[in-house]
Amino acid sequence: MARNKFAEIIETFEIDQDSLREIAASVRYDLELALSENDSSSLQIIHTNQNLPQGNECGKFIALDFGGTNLRAAIVELSGNGDYKILRKAQSALRSEKGDFTTADTSCEALFDFIAKVIGDAIEGDKNTPYLLGHTFSFPASPCDENDAELKKWTKEIAVPGVEGKPVNELLAAALKRQGYDNIRPTAVLNDTVAVLLAAAYQNDGIHIGSIYGTGHNSCYAEINSAFAPGKIINLEIGNFYKIFINKYDAIVDGHSTNPDEQRLEKMVSGCYLGELFKAALTDFYPGFSKANFDGEDVSHLALANAAQISLFMHQSDFPLPDDDTISFIQTLAAKILRRSAMIVAASYCGIAWHLYGNSSFKAKIAVEGSLYEKVEQIKSGMAEAFSKILDEGCQIETFLQKDGPLLGAALAACMAQDK
Ligand code: BGC
Repeated sequence: MARNKFAEIIETFEIDQDSLREIAASVRYDLELALSENDSSSLQIIHTNQNLPQGNECGKFIALDFGGTNLRAAIVELSGNGDYKILRKAQSALRSEKGDFTTADTSCEALFDFIAKVIGDAIEGDKNTPYLLGHTFSFPASPCDENDAELKKWTKEIAVPGVEGKPVNELLAAALKRQGYDNIRPTAVLNDTVAVLLAAAYQNDGIHIGSIYGTGHNSCYAEINSAFAPGKIINLEIGNFYKIFINKYDAIVDGHSTNPDEQRLEKMVSGCYLGELFKAALTDFYPGFSKANFDGEDVSHLALANAAQISLFMHQSDFPLPDDDTISFIQTLAAKILRRSAMIVAASYCGIAWHLYGNSSFKAKIAVEGSLYEKVEQIKSGMAEAFSKILDEGCQIETFLQKDGPLLGAALAACMAQDK
């Protein structure tokens, strides 16, 4: 009886070859619909005003990385030839004992004052040296002038009021001014995927796709097809893609989120939601489990954990001591959720690569950053399995970790903004 129910739950996270190919084909189709401004696309792409770097960029810049979990600020020195140094760095979690700067009770000023303080820490309170600042802002934002972009809507469960619809560098400049940093001029805002792509293109030739696979998920690419405004980078906001079959646990996670019906694909794949997904599925079997609290990386630990570790973990969550069947169910469920996530992301990469390079023969390299990609081994194996199921012979996608993508990319964007 229990085994049947376990099998039924696990089955809902299976994804077969036909579905994977269908996702890849729909991503390409929707991307091309969006490029021709057809409203039936599930993608709300953002045309950035960012080009790829030349590789010879030089100078010292402040780089800010405002992600979904952490804030990082640094002084980055670019010395051309793909070389750079991070001279000083400060960081702070958005949610910690010091406070939670992501909630609906946080004011816009409090959030940006917190960011300005982290920047101040990175430059040790220097209020004299003039700096240009590049701002990696990991949310959907549309360029509103050469140096600024407006937040369209928060994602990844951030709910701070008064920021949506506003130019984020203007808010940042005001906060820096409030703290006496008249020497810092924010000159560029870029999505984190764009930052990863800039960083990769600064150090390598032939890279056109950048992606983030961590708390959130998204990809961007530099257009090379003459039919569609070549040169510029397009932020795909792929987390919005919704032409994908969701199971009943996906629907529960979506229903409990701050933005129901939005970011459908992101809620099936990213670290912000995998813990919730696991919890929803396990709660279907053990209703008491709904109180447990953990995130995407915990799911990866459970997939690899041995029986004793699982017992301990469950016990901490007020869960009855699990028997052998339950332990194996928990391991399998966690592994399936991670594998499905990796396969969906890989399918979306295939769709983007097909758009860029056609589907007869190519070798694509995709620069990726983010904790799930970097730290969770099952993610890489799931992606490799999906690539082999989707791509025809002669087509190959290789992903690689782009170190320091958001900080290096922010410094490059600040440097390139000088010439605009
Ligand atoms: C945001 C994207 C961002 C991604 C990765 C998503 O929630 O919408 O703009 O690139 O997270 O951080």
